[in-house]
Amino acid sequence: MYNVVLLPGDGIGPEVMAQAKKVLMAVSEKFGIAFNLKEALVGGASIDEMGVPLADETLELCMKSDAVLFGAVGGPKWDHLPMELRPERAILGLRKELDLFANLRPAFLIPSLAAKSPLKGEILSKGVDILVVRELTGGLYFGEPKGIKVRDDKRIAYDTLVYTEDQIRRVAEIGFRVAQNRKKKLCLVDKANVLESSRLWREVVSEVTKEFPDVELSYMYVDNCAMQLVANPGMFDVILTENTFGDILSDEAAAIIGSIGLMPSASLGDKKPYLYEPVHGSAPDIAGRG
Ligand code: IPM
Ligand code: MG
Repeated sequence: MYNVVLLPGDGIGPEVMAQAKKVLMAVSEKFGIAFNLKEALVGGASIDEMGVPLADETLELCMKSDAVLFGAVGGPKWDHLPMELRPERAILGLRKELDLFANLRPAFLIPSLAAKSPLKGEILSKGVDILVVRELTGGLYFGEPKGIKVRDDKRIAYDTLVYTEDQIRRVAEIGFRVAQNRKKKLCLVDKANVLESSRLWREVVSEVTKEFPDVELSYMYVDNCAMQLVANPGMFDVILTENTFGDILSDEAAAIIGSIGLMPSASLGDKKPYLYEPVHGSAPDIAGRG
């Protein structure tokens, strides 16, 4: 018996979750796995009911579970709220509190969808099968200090991109391990020509690679990677990268296969529960249409 918490959230989240639930029940029947499903509010839906995007009870329920299935959060209704009260804090809070540091985001070409891809057939002809391994609990998203203040009568804003070597090592190990089960190619994507944090990523990853001699490691600057993803997506197997770069590149990778709406993702840590969610967002513009 597995305890699974369902967090449908906002926008198309509840519609997507209703279908996902059917799939889960079919899996349960076919493979004889019992799921104990509990549902809770999250994001804007939770703000409306309980005043906060992620209530303590909801977090506790998740912590005691085996897995969390997440829909999507956010929408124009809550856009005016201060940063700490926005629906997005819910997913960021879950990632941080559950210490889900490795986000696996695949983008593979489904042949019947190829015509939906914005790319030409010749570019897709080599196939697309990419796995973005995005670090999820560090970098600009959580770095301190961050804020807006006034200096000499002018507003200044700052965010901090910080990584410890341990944070880099643990996600790199996951990257190499998943690469071992694929085409054994791992590309570290960074901005090592400009950022100190990227230089540390290169140092640590070049240490970790010694434990995985069967995986071929390469390095690429993030701007070049954004270009190669549309010019030559077939060249990639596993892309390992920090939080913000991974956020951007995983959307790009999902879009080139024809629909961001079809790609799943898993957020893993050292121990359960892990969190599973679609790569897409709450898509308020198309919500409520089934
Ligand atoms: C994602 C989303 C989130 C992120 C938002 C909703 C905070 O864009 O999961 O990629 O930036 O990580
Ligand atoms: Mg994103």
